[in-house]
Amino acid sequence: MSKYILIIGACGQIGTELTYTLREKHGCEHVIASDIREGNDELMQSGPFEILDATNYDALEEVIAYYEISEVYLMAAMLSATAEKFPMRAWNLNMNTLFNVLNLAKDKKIDKIFWPSSIAVFGPNTPKNDTPQNTIMEPSTVYGISKQSGERWCEYYFNKFNVDVRSIRYPGLISWKTMPGGGTTDYAVEIYHKALTEKSYTCFLEEDTKLPMMFMDDAIRATLQVMEAPSEHIKERSAYNLAAMSFTPKEMAESIKAVIPEFKIAYEPDFRQEIANSWPSSIDDSKAQQDWNWQAEFDLEKTTKAMLENLDNMDK
Ligand SMILES: NC(=O)c1ccc[n+]([C@@H]2O[C@H](COP(=O)([O-])OP(=O)(O)OC[C@H]3O[C@@H](n4cnc5c(N)ncnc54)[C@H](O)[C@@H]3O)[C@@H](O)[C@H]2O)c1
Repeated sequence: MSKYILIIGACGQIGTELTYTLREKHGCEHVIASDIREGNDELMQSGPFEILDATNYDALEEVIAYYEISEVYLMAAMLSATAEKFPMRAWNLNMNTLFNVLNLAKDKKIDKIFWPSSIAVFGPNTPKNDTPQNTIMEPSTVYGISKQSGERWCEYYFNKFNVDVRSIRYPGLISWKTMPGGGTTDYAVEIYHKALTEKSYTCFLEEDTKLPMMFMDDAIRATLQVMEAPSEHIKERSAYNLAAMSFTPKEMAESIKAVIPEFKIAYEPDFRQEIANSWPSSIDDSKAQQDWNWQAEFDLEKTTKAMLENLDNMDK
């Protein structure tokens, strides 16, 4: 019999697409979506859904027992830009949900966990280019501190209690099905929407701020790949570096202009500039390539084409 999977934070930018892909693979009834709020119509109609606050251990345990869940994807979190505004709420949400899931696995109530980390674990003292898997990590944001602590706890639970938890450090994610949820790389999604509707965009980062990014299809593929790899192949029990492309807002605007020549961009950096300045420009993901054959498929040009075509079709 096929396993039952729970996705926590299923209505978010990643959770929505992860739910679709896992439902396609394992059957709709085997993938339970959950969140503290309802998602879009397509998600809500595609299979079982539970309103669930993942900070509530008892409620979480009840859903896991009821559906006989064996695998959990924990996608609920407060993202980088929002977390700077609500530091304690971010810390409590990001850490308590992780502890709840890790403890359920420790007590053998679930078998396997996916928990995402982020390039935000790195800080201003980290080598900026081709940032290695193991390097200086001194995050300067609330979000980054929570992700770095989370990585340490994941590795600890694996070493001490044999908890099978797997993680990747997602770069900024670009998608068209769901809007991003308050991160520092949100501009890389907003820009496509505005390019189509207004032929112009005012970016909240400076034109030469180079950050690691990834198209959502690649991110979902990486997530499934790391979860499906044999346990002995997963050598990193903190989180894997993961990369696809790196570019600046100016380069992204150029790639849009190649399709929409009249597109114009302006720059009005805000508080998110400081967060972006503390992050790497590019990531060395050779460990993920070695351990579970990771290879990205989408570069900037391919991403721009996919974003503009799909957003344009959605409007019709
Ligand atoms: N999107 C990115 O670019 C990116 C990059 C790096 C890492 N990540 C990580 O990936 C994960 C998912 O990110 P996302 O972009 O989909 O975030 P998002 O903000 O779009 O979605 C998070 C979801 O969690 C839900 N949620 C919030 N509090 C909850 C609670 N108490 N119980 C249950 N659900 C709750 C929200 O309603 C939301 O639907 C997060 O851990 C994030 O840190 C995302």
